[in-house]
Amino acid sequence: MSKKFYITTPIYYVNAHPHIGHAYTTIACDTIARRHRMLGDDTWFLTGTDEHGQKIERAAQAAAKSPQQFTDEISAEFRALWDRMGLTYDDFIRTTSERHKQGVQALWRKIRDNGNGYIYKGTYSGQYCVSDELYVDAVGPGAPCPICDRPTETVHEENYYFKLSAFQDKLIRLYTDQPDFIRPETRRNEVLSFVRGGLRDLSISRSTFSWGIPVPDDPKHVVYVWLDALANYITALGYGSGSNSNDTRKFDKYWPADLHMIGKEIVRFHCVYWPAFLMAAGLPLPKCITAHGWLLFEESKMSKSRGNIVRAETIVDVLGTDALRYFLLREVVFGQDGSFSFDALVQRYNSDLANGLGNLASRTLTMITRYFKAEVPYPAHAHTPADAAIADAARKVIADYSTLFDQYQFSRALETAWGLVSAVDKYIVENEPWSLGDKQDEESRSRLATVLYTSAEALRIVTALAHPVIPDATAKIWAQMGLGDIRKFDLKQLQWGQLHLGTKLGAVQAVFPRADKSAVERMQKMEEQTASGATGVSPVQPSEARQAAAMSATPSASAKPVAAIPDGKISIDDFAKVELRVAQVKTAERVKGADKLLRLEVDLGTEVRQLVAGIAEAYEPETLIGRKIVIVANLAPRKLRGLESNGMIVAAAPEGGKPVLASFLEDVPVGTRLK
Ligand code: MSP
Repeated sequence: MSKKFYITTPIYYVNAHPHIGHAYTTIACDTIARRHRMLGDDTWFLTGTDEHGQKIERAAQAAAKSPQQFTDEISAEFRALWDRMGLTYDDFIRTTSERHKQGVQALWRKIRDNGNGYIYKGTYSGQYCVSDELYVDAVGPGAPCPICDRPTETVHEENYYFKLSAFQDKLIRLYTDQPDFIRPETRRNEVLSFVRGGLRDLSISRSTFSWGIPVPDDPKHVVYVWLDALANYITALGYGSGSNSNDTRKFDKYWPADLHMIGKEIVRFHCVYWPAFLMAAGLPLPKCITAHGWLLFEESKMSKSRGNIVRAETIVDVLGTDALRYFLLREVVFGQDGSFSFDALVQRYNSDLANGLGNLASRTLTMITRYFKAEVPYPAHAHTPADAAIADAARKVIADYSTLFDQYQFSRALETAWGLVSAVDKYIVENEPWSLGDKQDEESRSRLATVLYTSAEALRIVTALAHPVIPDATAKIWAQMGLGDIRKFDLKQLQWGQLHLGTKLGAVQAVFPRADKSAVERMQKMEEQTASGATGVSPVQPSEARQAAAMSATPSASAKPVAAIPDGKISIDDFAKVELRVAQVKTAERVKGADKLLRLEVDLGTEVRQLVAGIAEAYEPETLIGRKIVIVANLAPRKLRGLESNGMIVAAAPEGGKPVLASFLEDVPVGTRLK
């Protein structure tokens, strides 16, 4: 009987386009799922999109689309990217789907109706972070969100509450009895101390907006987006929508999840709220929740609001999916934060893939083709210590790689396997098969056969182990070795010496062509062009002076031209295209080497954005913090001094004088649109 293995990614918010931060989690899960399939486990891999809530509703509004149209588009983008990258998810759940809606309502009823009073009505008065959809307890108006640091909004609503406080002891027992429930250990300790500090009941409905799943029997309320979202892990298996008996079977077969993989910022939701909801509903708990760290770019978390994202498509286009997968899992220590840079990516690609595994495969297979008519030769009985050392190293790699991989220490696992690649490279250099190939005596032929067999067998072992990480290239190498479809190989059986005499090789081709310096530039350019909204043509980079002058509400050259009507006036529709919004300055600093420029981070209510503005001669950066300003929010992003500017500040620009920021006498909520 094969073991079952159910693995999930978080479901991604659809307020932003996918980037390599999202790809990172999905790739890690894909890699784990592939390994389990190769080990013969009955594997189910779920991903999807999180589409309800106030943040999404506001993002749709800002894009002048209905929430459904907006979420349909961005959800499809995620799915298309995962497909393009060959990610092997078995199901893609959308929280706007009917099956999910029914499942969430069923879960609500189950918790409500079990006679323990776990759901009750009350009034919530306090702070809420729309960006993280988080209730922030025991703080005053405007207090920052503990996750993202954006100012929270004050909400006062009659809500349904979940009796989280009743689960404190049970949760502590869970973390203590099952030390592997939360991994790594640092996250477990954080959660333990959070729960030991006391749990307040949790508001689980909202009534001031409607983009969500209606609360059963009280449709004025929608279900709190985190209860809605977390339920995806069971609704996707058919929980609560079990009209289809296949689905009910799926739930019985795969639940509880073996692994929920998440980013470290959503630990509390998964490790405290989710098990408490499940306990309240009398459902089994997931076996393990593992949190990884963040991908950083230019030293901060890669995210849309910081404007520092890198798209997976760029890397896939230039170097291929395997390059991205290998880089992320080899370079970043899983569980910790890690930096991304194009230079490091290309360097790693060349050293480990092009010159490492790729080169080992092509030189070994080419020599077998040349010297043995493309048939695997049989090793001589007389082994040298060098041959035995490679076989021993390979046996050790099989064992160590598996242990490390099963602890999700991808980086160390790969390092171990690539240690074997280097050892075989050295072995080839020292044994000079090309010199042996020139000789026809029996001893040389037999030695040549041993050296090439040993090299090919080590290559086969690394290829099998690395397949879940770099599936495309390893499938090609496997086929070139005449071994057929690598996905059908039973990894449990992997051991030294299985390569058969006479195996006929396929055509040998390079799997990782070397990348030259221009690859970095090409990828950087592609990202800049996407950021500036250019399609195909190079973006016009506005000079600093033009940006400094462009502080009136007039759209700049790279924005869509506002169609002027004949007498020089514009229509109301034209004006409506310009999205002016109230924003609050969170940080301000001078841009090095540019006298006129300040770099600002401004809060728009739904997101924090970076702007670069030519106001340094008029304002000291410190005086701007907390100030409410007006920005053009829908201007195409552009780069100034290498920094992305996401919008433009509105100011009066007196002839020959310094700019004066537009502001208000009355208090206006952050994010309000000017009309
Ligand atoms: N919708 C919620 C999750 C609900 S799960 C029931 C959410 N979505 S998210 O789109 O903001 O982020 C989801 C996940 O994307 C993160 O937990 C993390 O796994 C991944 N990442 C997004 N940005 C990332 C980085 N910069 N670095 C690493 N992972 C990142 O939270």
